[in-house]
Amino acid sequence: MDFARAVLDFEIYTRGMNEPEALEFLGDNEVRWRGRTLVYFSGCDYFRLARNSQVVAAVISSLKENGLNVAASRKTTGNHKIYAELENELAKFFGTETALLFPDGYFAPIAVTQTFAGEFTHALADEFAHGALLDAARMLDCPLQKFRHHDAADLQKFIAKCGKNSRPIILTDGMFAHDGSTAPLREYLKILPRNGMILVDDAHGAGVLGSTGKGTLELEKVGRQRIVQCVTLSKAFGVYGGAVLATRALREKILARSCVFVGTTPLPPPLAGAAIASIKILRREPVRRKRMFQNLSYVRTQLRAAGWETSETPGPIIRLPAMNEAAVRDLQKRFLAAGIYPPFLKYVGASAQGFFRLIISSEHTRAQLDRLIGVLASFKLAFGVRKP
Ligand SMILES: Cc1ncc(COP(=O)(O)O)c(C=O)c1O
Repeated sequence: MDFARAVLDFEIYTRGMNEPEALEFLGDNEVRWRGRTLVYFSGCDYFRLARNSQVVAAVISSLKENGLNVAASRKTTGNHKIYAELENELAKFFGTETALLFPDGYFAPIAVTQTFAGEFTHALADEFAHGALLDAARMLDCPLQKFRHHDAADLQKFIAKCGKNSRPIILTDGMFAHDGSTAPLREYLKILPRNGMILVDDAHGAGVLGSTGKGTLELEKVGRQRIVQCVTLSKAFGVYGGAVLATRALREKILARSCVFVGTTPLPPPLAGAAIASIKILRREPVRRKRMFQNLSYVRTQLRAAGWETSETPGPIIRLPAMNEAAVRDLQKRFLAAGIYPPFLKYVGASAQGFFRLIISSEHTRAQLDRLIGVLASFKLAFGVRKP
């Protein structure tokens, strides 16, 4: 194929288009793009469970047993028993009283804020909070203020401004997908008034962070009092669907008040079956998390040896420093020449000009990691990059 043309096309694809070109996923770590098979260091299927044979078998078996769709809200005739089974598995995995499922992770925080509409006086969101949280904030019927990314001191200033009789709610991602950093929940709790709440969208932390994968709360060693954690099943668990991890009382309150719960068809039963299988795998095989962090540590160490500055964020994500256009183009070319899909993206809110983000999975082979490191080492030799 015309390689120079492919590079040019890639640039057009990453810069201009609203709907990026389709990728074909092959096996655990490769994609097909424009006729080429390339190693993949993107996407958030951190443990590659989306293609795991037990998870796929669970889809097929549940499809045969339950069909594709309940075609009704759980509030009416759509409440299949598999949903309670999945909620019990989630509650067991995360160590919560209950869980409540939603069709996807985007809906979960929205359901929480619908439930609390009118109860808080101020919504305070991290400036890089995911769109799901910003949409969720609109349901609260109170003013929204953004505070500086990760910055407890800035947050404290806004809390102080809220006034004596206020009741604030803080909205933040648990783990941030642009660089694998996490919200300092312990610090936020210290400055949160007693009647306040923190809503954590832990789409990326769930299954990944903490000693048993319970997510950012476990990593930060904080309890669940005054914190509500929302998760997705579409990343570490490799399936689809969302959930709010809740006390029984909160679950009841959401059931009574959330339009999202009343007005949506739940996730297809085969996906619920797959999610059950996937949660069991992650509980049974903590070695996957261990392997992922070993891979991460290997890549970080080698990149540092090659002269890269990589920050020590808790998540399996390495964000490369900002680069000028010529450097971006050069590195894209090197990735393609080495048979790696260029992990370059523009992330809403995090960086207008785009950046390289490496996602390291538990299933990348040493040879694939070495290929990645080789490209970045040769680039570093050839090209200076400015500090982030
Ligand atoms: C931080 C965050 N929250 C929520 C979502 C939405 O989750 P889902 O894809 O399950 O709707 C995403 C997904 O990309 C996300 O990154």
